[in-house]
Amino acid sequence: MQRLLVVEDDSAVRNNIVTCLELEGFQVDSVGTTREALDRLNAESYPIVLSDIYLDERTGLDVLRAARTARGDCAVILMSGRGSMETVMAATRGGAFDYLAKPFDLDDMVEKVRRAVASFDVLEEKEARIDDIPETDMIGSSPQMVEIFKTLAKVAPTDATLLIEGETGTGKELIARMIHRFSKRSEKGFVAVDCGSIPPSLLESELFGALKGSFTGADRDRVGVFEAANNGTVFLDEIGDIDLNFQAKLLRVLQEREIRPLGSPRGKPIDVRIVAATNKNVRQLVEQGKFREDLWFRLDVVRVELPSLRERRGDVPLLAQTFLDRYNERYGMRAILTESGVRALDSYTWPGNVRQLQHMIERLVILAPQGRIDETAVRDAIADGEGKESLGETLEDAKAEQIRKVLAATGGNKSKASKILGIERKTLYRLIERFGLDR
Ligand SMILES: Nc1ncnc2c1ncn2[C@@H]1O[C@H](COP(=O)(O)OP(=O)(O)OP(=O)(O)O)[C@@H](O)[C@H]1O
Ligand SMILES: [Mg+2]
Repeated sequence: MQRLLVVEDDSAVRNNIVTCLELEGFQVDSVGTTREALDRLNAESYPIVLSDIYLDERTGLDVLRAARTARGDCAVILMSGRGSMETVMAATRGGAFDYLAKPFDLDDMVEKVRRAVASFDVLEEKEARIDDIPETDMIGSSPQMVEIFKTLAKVAPTDATLLIEGETGTGKELIARMIHRFSKRSEKGFVAVDCGSIPPSLLESELFGALKGSFTGADRDRVGVFEAANNGTVFLDEIGDIDLNFQAKLLRVLQEREIRPLGSPRGKPIDVRIVAATNKNVRQLVEQGKFREDLWFRLDVVRVELPSLRERRGDVPLLAQTFLDRYNERYGMRAILTESGVRALDSYTWPGNVRQLQHMIERLVILAPQGRIDETAVRDAIADGEGKESLGETLEDAKAEQIRKVLAATGGNKSKASKILGIERKTLYRLIERFGLDR
């Protein structure tokens, strides 16, 4: 049975709290003044203290200090009806376990106390720590990644064109940058173009340049990406998104190794290495007639297929530790990852892959209660993320199913469907594409 001290000057509230916690099986002592609280804390050892903030001439912050002095691992939950940025800051700085705004649901209070109890279980738990992480940007020691590193080591120094395929967040851009860094062009420029976000009508001038007056708005000569990156590397990101019309133009440039800026009568020879990337399966696009086969062959000289994170779970602990160190350093924190925390990270599906893991660790370094990234902290962070971005597989499935139903009901009328679903048409198109509902 867990021992608990409740400090609350309002006797009605105090009795409520005490009764409720006793029903939950806690052994509860309660007092109504800070004087009594400090005496109690001197006399006995409480692992958990629940204290109001505004009491008498002293406050809950004094109780917090005394409790943490008496027992370094004491979990103190502060409550207040007059919470402000300042009180919450002071509570956090003083090492409070949690903060409850009054009035609160007794269920919420019990939940917080349970968490405090659970935090003791994990305090027993060992920190999971991997030493000697290699000095590199690209973390991964799974067999799949090692195979990729071997390919890259061979290809990087050559001028060969590469096509990198992989889900979102698997490290396609990172790979492209590494290839450039380890090539003989490394002293020259690396220019990345997100083909998916540039309107088709602007792609040509963006990539190949334009002379003044060649189109409305061209008030001066523009140097295109290919020219800016001459002798270096051009990274064509989201290559699967370019339209057929532009595919033909790109193909010609790759074949002839010269660009013709918009409005220019002459071509300019150009020497760039092309690395292209996509989160789509280009072979499939070719089969569907959405991507030119000849352009695909040109780009697909060497193909790198980046595995999703769930296909190489072995890398999760290593990545997590790397990001933990990075963000601890960046934010001046000392968060640790516990064994149960690593297990929880390990068993998640990571639809957003390495990027999602990275962001989650960043958030946890800052927010994990008492700097301990344990199972509960990870589960909460996952639930948060799924609430916000609905990245969870089951939620994604549910969403896809919902859209499929509405599309069927509207006979595929997207503008009706988007109204029924309450989303913008643009968003609907994106989701249809993401879930492959157009096939
Ligand atoms: N193996 C890895 N080791 C360390 N960091 C990685 C690794 N893979 C990816 N990252 C990091 O994850 C983030 C996402 O990577 P990147 O931008 O390369 O993904 P991407 O495949 O291009 O994703 P998208 O398709 O969404 O553009 C970056 O911050 C990158 O540094
Ligand atoms: Mg990318």
